Amino acid sequence: EKGEFRHFMQKEIHEQVRALTDTLAGRVDFDNGKIRLPQLNLDAEGAKKIKKIIITACGTAAHAGMVGKIYLERIARIPTEVDIASEFRYRDPIVDADTVVLAISQSGETADTLAAMEEGRQRGAKLWSIVNAIGSQAMRVADGFISMQSGPEIGVASTKAFTAPLVDLFMLAVLLGDLRGTLSEKERFDLVADLRLVPDLVGRCLDREDEIIPIARKMKDAAHMLYLGRGVNMPIAYEGALKLKEISYIHAEAYPAGEMKHGPIALVDKDMPVLAIAPLDPWYEKMISQIEQAKARGGSTLVVATEGDTRVPDLADHIFWVPKCPWLLSPIVTVIPLQMFAYHIAAQRGLDVDQPRNLAKSVTVE
Ligand code: M6R
Repeated sequence: EKGEFRHFMQKEIHEQVRALTDTLAGRVDFDNGKIRLPQLNLDAEGAKKIKKIIITACGTAAHAGMVGKIYLERIARIPTEVDIASEFRYRDPIVDADTVVLAISQSGETADTLAAMEEGRQRGAKLWSIVNAIGSQAMRVADGFISMQSGPEIGVASTKAFTAPLVDLFMLAVLLGDLRGTLSEKERFDLVADLRLVPDLVGRCLDREDEIIPIARKMKDAAHMLYLGRGVNMPIAYEGALKLKEISYIHAEAYPAGEMKHGPIALVDKDMPVLAIAPLDPWYEKMISQIEQAKARGGSTLVVATEGDTRVPDLADHIFWVPKCPWLLSPIVTVIPLQMFAYHIAAQRGLDVDQPRNLAKSVTVE
């Protein structure tokens, strides 16, 4: 039940500290800097054989996959593609026995995702899945799986089943990097140590919920919004925009920030609020200049920024503060205020947050 919360979505946003703590439990050996994912059925020989990973998923799960691509390429040095499940099998994909098709799904019953897995199977790939619903089809048909520890998710807008797979993908990348010998011992220890920080960092974002409510009040009648992010936080722009669209019915569009100058900047004027995700990561300077450009064109600016940042306050009309964190893990942190922002806008608009129009929790038709 919802307990102290008005909606399941709000409750589930707050359950993320617990979900992420459970995600790490039993899988991360901090003393030895090791990751254990026994249900993947993976050994060093199997790990070394992999030539390519194709992540396939829909919606929010696909956004998690976009972050996962960066983890798998950077940490494990395995070429990785992300394919929207409804596109994958219609493009005659290049898949063989050295390819892993990795499906991500909260429900484990999404028709498009299951069809993409079947396509991978037909073409001889190894099948892995990251799934929340225990015993679901996406778990059963896989050769190996990682079980999300999110617990049941009721709200149609996925929240805790987004952050858990981000941690799963990070752990998977470290495990593969270890088994394939692409990580030095120090790198491995450092990456594993960073994981320990995650639940607390998310909790500190949740503690700032009261600061987000007035920002939501200001923006709740916006007609449009542009979300910008870059690098590891580019997928978070997509995820933040999707959250806003699906529950508040405000048109939100996401772009990789560097694409702005190739067209979308023409949209920016005083009626186009720009939400930029600009934590202290390797793309920070680029994001700052993007925010300057939006401001120069009269757009109101909302910025996700790291506590202590001294430049963002001069540029932003509204700031979503997040704690300082290792940049590779920052998407798990920066998405939290965007979930709360979308939630509070929809709640203030008096909408049916948990059951938005035209949507179902599990999309079992193609
Ligand atoms: O159950 P799945 O993770 O396979 O669902 C995929 C999408 O339908 C789902 O993430 C959808 O985009 C959510 N409503 C997003 O909040």
